[in-house]
Amino acid sequence: MCGIVGYVGKQDGVPFLLEGLQRLEYRGYDSAGVAAVKNGTLRVHKAEGRVRAVAESLPKRVTGTLGIAHTRWATHGPPSDVNSHPHCDTEGRVAVVHNGIIENAVILRDMLHAEGVELVSDTDTEVLAHLIARAEGDELDDRVRAALQQVEGAYGIAVCDAGVPDRIVVARNGSPVVLGVGNGEMFVASDVAALVRHTQQVVFLEDGELATVTADGFRTFTLDAQFTNKVATAVELSDDDYSRGLHTHYLRKEIGDQPEAVHGTLRGRLDHRFATARLGGLELSARELRSIRRVKILGCGSAYYAGIAGAQLIESIARLPADAEPASEFRYRAPVIDPETLYVAVSQSGETADTLGAVLEVQRKGARVLGVVNAVGSSIASATDSGVYLHAGPEVSVASTKAFTCTLTVFALLALHLGRVRDLGPGDGERLIAGLEALPDQIDEILATEEHVAEVAGRIAGATSAFFIGRVRGFPVALEGAQKLKEISYVHAEAYPASELKHGPLALITPTLPTVAVVPDDEMLDKNRNALQQVAARGGRLVAVAHGHPGEGLADDVLLVPRSEPELDPILLSIPLQLLAYHAAVALGRDVDQPRNLAKSVTVE
Ligand code: F6R
Repeated sequence: MCGIVGYVGKQDGVPFLLEGLQRLEYRGYDSAGVAAVKNGTLRVHKAEGRVRAVAESLPKRVTGTLGIAHTRWATHGPPSDVNSHPHCDTEGRVAVVHNGIIENAVILRDMLHAEGVELVSDTDTEVLAHLIARAEGDELDDRVRAALQQVEGAYGIAVCDAGVPDRIVVARNGSPVVLGVGNGEMFVASDVAALVRHTQQVVFLEDGELATVTADGFRTFTLDAQFTNKVATAVELSDDDYSRGLHTHYLRKEIGDQPEAVHGTLRGRLDHRFATARLGGLELSARELRSIRRVKILGCGSAYYAGIAGAQLIESIARLPADAEPASEFRYRAPVIDPETLYVAVSQSGETADTLGAVLEVQRKGARVLGVVNAVGSSIASATDSGVYLHAGPEVSVASTKAFTCTLTVFALLALHLGRVRDLGPGDGERLIAGLEALPDQIDEILATEEHVAEVAGRIAGATSAFFIGRVRGFPVALEGAQKLKEISYVHAEAYPASELKHGPLALITPTLPTVAVVPDDEMLDKNRNALQQVAARGGRLVAVAHGHPGEGLADDVLLVPRSEPELDPILLSIPLQLLAYHAAVALGRDVDQPRNLAKSVTVE
């Protein structure tokens, strides 16, 4: 969703601001804008539409050694030139860019209106610019603090003032802000993706923290002006991690990244000596792990589907009751929080507002939450009591692929670890370790079948709707397969447990409605064959994702995956479905990396 970039240094910052905005495009946005300060004058250029259009129409006079910029995802007021950020005060002296939502914006607008201030946009952000301009205080940071004390809600902001042309003031409350330390220049962003071409030295602000950023450095403090002592740390990400290389789409690159990504998730975490997994970030002793009675996994969208597969891994390997629930529903249904339950929050971006809300709700009621997160330093990674990073590398394409398989891999490690402090024997531990170690090469084998998957995708791309079915371990794979197809190809798809077909959806089976069936060679194979027969008998087209052909005349096409340990099968079974959705989307000419209406990180409810 929205993105922030800022620069203060000795050279013209506008090229960096535009490049930074381009690097944040993947998050999804509807408008963009830039503000720059030169010779004590603030100039703003902003418009609805793409960053490239804003860059191409940028007047030459918008330059300066200090500037802020933004990509907006509309919340208060529709996408339009006037609602785009930056927003300014009436005199055009103060400029603000803002991610998040100011909840008392209506009250603040009324208050400003009563004081004679004319607001020009529909946004919540504009109130901030007026509040800062009207606040008392000698320094810009005092005025920003005074304004923020009147504000309720979530924000990540960057502020500049034409009268103080050597500094940007930034603040964070529930929406990320990161500083990049350069040589005689400083960068500001809401996502390290915008910075890593220029510096690896970064400072992640905490909630409730502000910073004054000048060309020579930064100073961090709290809303009540207490200094905080922050030092820069190095991020292990470079510009290459955000490049799509020779691929046409980030999505295809990220599907292809999976052997290396899964390897990264496993690196240093397998312990052959004790046939277990080591998860440094878990921060729970064997005694504490043994006292866990249940596991509850929370996440949204694909992260929730990964949670369903994760719960199955934990139940089957560690023999602990486990389930998953959409974080967006959990937080609002007054859930009973049990201190003997281990809550696990899953999020690729670490910024999903619904998942973060669920984490805070669980913690408020006295239980601890473990984060399973990809983005280092993100809000959920900071808010959770302990955590396991995916180490999948940045995921740029809106639809999740490698984060899904790496989350399943983390759950396999967690299940192994929980199992080995409970009842799982060393033989099973070694068996699972061998299965995990084999995954990267097996994923390569699946990727080598891409040409065939693309042909099959061509055959189903013309359908207006598709079913995805699977049982037990195959069901979360079917859910995720349907999710991928609908979000990037816009072909309507629904997932059902294969056992449920005959209870209703079978009525829809016709020769024009394809069914994709997840049918591993496991204890459910015979039962799955029954479901396939029910579809075939009604003339339905069948694509099977399987370890071998599921039976004579039962599938029109088969997407083969290598055998793994049965518990780990969902990891491999998911990959042909990613390729299937990708090639269907390409065949249909869709915007694969930025599907309509979707954003990479959903920072609003
Ligand atoms: C689907 C997809 C979304 C996300 C969901 C949660 O491809 O990307 O369903 O999985 O919005 O996002 P994170 O994992 O960032 O919390």
